Amino acid sequence: MQIKFSEKTRSFKLDTAGATYLMQIGPSGELRHLYYGAAISDDDAVLELGTRHGKASFSSHPEGLGAEDSLDLVPLEFSTFGSGDQRMTAAALRKVSGTSVTSSVYRSHSIFQGKKPLPGLPASFAPDTEMQTLEITMTDGFSGADFVLSYSIFEDSDVIARSIRVENTTDAPLVVERLMSAQIDFHSSEYDLIYLQGRWARERQAVRRPLAPGRQGFRSSRGSTGHQYNPGFVLASPSATESVGDAYGMLLMYSGNYTADIETDQYGTARAMIGINPENFSWTLAPGEQFQTPEALVLFSPDGLGGLSRQSHRFLMEHVIRSPWKHVKRPILVNNWEATYFDFDDRKIYEIAKTAATLGIEMLVLDDGWFGKRDDDHSSLGDWFVNRDKIGDLGELVRRINDLHMKFGLWFEPEMISEKSNLYQQHPDWVLTIPGFRKSIGRDQMVLDMSRPEVVDYLFETIAGILHSANIEYIKWDMNRNLTEIHSAVLPAERQKEVAHRYVLGVYALHERLLKEFPNLLIEGCSGGGGRFDAGMLYYAPQIWCSDDTDALERVSIQLGTSLFYPSASMGAHVSVCPNHQTGRTVSFETRGTVALAGTFGYELDLTRLSDEDRELVKRQVKEYHRYNDLIREGSFHRLTEGFGTGTLSVWSWVSQNRKRVLVTAVRKTGVPCGHDCVRRIRLRGLDPRACYVFSDTGTALHGDTLMNAGFTLDGLTRDASSRLYYLEVR
Ligand code: DGJ
Repeated sequence: MQIKFSEKTRSFKLDTAGATYLMQIGPSGELRHLYYGAAISDDDAVLELGTRHGKASFSSHPEGLGAEDSLDLVPLEFSTFGSGDQRMTAAALRKVSGTSVTSSVYRSHSIFQGKKPLPGLPASFAPDTEMQTLEITMTDGFSGADFVLSYSIFEDSDVIARSIRVENTTDAPLVVERLMSAQIDFHSSEYDLIYLQGRWARERQAVRRPLAPGRQGFRSSRGSTGHQYNPGFVLASPSATESVGDAYGMLLMYSGNYTADIETDQYGTARAMIGINPENFSWTLAPGEQFQTPEALVLFSPDGLGGLSRQSHRFLMEHVIRSPWKHVKRPILVNNWEATYFDFDDRKIYEIAKTAATLGIEMLVLDDGWFGKRDDDHSSLGDWFVNRDKIGDLGELVRRINDLHMKFGLWFEPEMISEKSNLYQQHPDWVLTIPGFRKSIGRDQMVLDMSRPEVVDYLFETIAGILHSANIEYIKWDMNRNLTEIHSAVLPAERQKEVAHRYVLGVYALHERLLKEFPNLLIEGCSGGGGRFDAGMLYYAPQIWCSDDTDALERVSIQLGTSLFYPSASMGAHVSVCPNHQTGRTVSFETRGTVALAGTFGYELDLTRLSDEDRELVKRQVKEYHRYNDLIREGSFHRLTEGFGTGTLSVWSWVSQNRKRVLVTAVRKTGVPCGHDCVRRIRLRGLDPRACYVFSDTGTALHGDTLMNAGFTLDGLTRDASSRLYYLEVR
């Protein structure tokens, strides 16, 4: 790991173990992007890579320079609006007096160990000795404000953490109209774009398509990440597979409105960027004030999509997820949502817990409906006090459950408010709504104005009060609607476009305060399933409920899509009842277990109604969880079939860090009777070629090179929704 500045070539070279990132200060002070990819050793490569560009009519150039130095032609590291670069740009500032034009001219840089904190925002971390940062200050020649571009590299990773801070160093107010977290100008547009698309109960389906001329991308204006897209994408060479080929990624550590854009231009190059969605966004900076973008993780792997995913998984585990739980086996939980919905009382909950305890389940999670007067989804959000008519004394219930040697977890939806609630009676102005304009209702609820500190204070005090009142070791933090009419009652008109970002900062602040008060609290993020599954949330919550769709077959593509960036240890996954409540499908208990095992693992059904046979299967699955969870949590993940679970057969594996243990799971979605294709050679990956691996069920022993080059034979998976699990250990 090393960051170098060459006086001779005025260039910056960032070297991680496997990658190089190269930039150069150009003749008009602009910062040019020269190279990003597999490591290169020549420090003077800049001389070759940084010189020749064409020229083109209609592309203007800075005064005093030639047409070949047009900012519209050269690959830039940081593009600004209105001063020569006419592609999509990363930054636009406006003087309050009116004019929107921004330029960027190199002023200074510094290289140091560690990294500065990002106030109020989640940020990657490592000990100072294992991380280096380059900060390049670019000045806007028009307003005089400074942009500080930050690049951090890590001892054990090829990921680069990037962000930008703008400082109003002038004596007049300025408005930030657009500021991306990171931009990369690729020298070619011959890439496939891979991203995650979906909807409620069908999140993160991987899509792959070639880049086309023009602008392409996706965004959220929902106030949160959303089910529809995930804030990250990959650009991979068209021939890249799971195991070979260049793959680049950008992943935003943010949970609000974002945009991810790629523009292929008139010259066949591609500009990619990611950051806060500029739609309905602006931020006024008084003299001396700063604005900090969220962090973006920039990834590169020459080892295909699998290599890129593993890099992302490891980085998120080591440098983003902070929870003390991240490397710990999570308690196997049973959640009462699909078992009872709102129809429960303390007796029913205790009965589920009692049965769970006999099966080896370790935590009862009480979901929605325990507070206020909530017996359906029409009331009480915001009234975070116990409904004693329904569940009696919460402390007493928790004690009785603890006496069963089970932990207790509780559901909250902090950011929401029901019209039918005491809170709304007391504070109607705490809602995001535009005075005099009709409000939009979603799931019969409204959204609290999290940009207001007094709202965050109220939530902290009431939630902390409940957590102090009983031994609650886990919370599920839900969020069940998108933001509309984004307007705060307390901000002036010129600051209303700040509300959506201030909302996210409020959500982060509440997480931060709760975790400071309860450092060991295990938080599971949730948003109507996986509507807010992002790296920002993972900073606070080491696991996130993947989807409200608990059907095991649907979960195959949801969990595999999620694995493009996110580790198995972060995916909330449960065994639920059949026929499944979302699809009506019946899948064997074994297959439901196999798919849930690939995440945090738990149950979401009425355990008191299980058949004897299913009870025995639960006990077996619990044993499997204890046997394999460290492998699933800490191992390297491999998608052994291409296509992110869209084919009829999906096989994936986890290999321990020392390469001595391997778990393989295979799920056949649609059966193929008598078909030749139900017998498949599966080639493993990531093994020690010379070690001899023994299959636990058959005792077959094969060397790593045989298993990786020739593979092993998978057969017998002919039925719809059938599955197999293989475990191998080095002899
Ligand atoms: C949406 C979540 O995803 C579900 O698991 C459940 O907690 C409900 N909300 C409760 O309202």
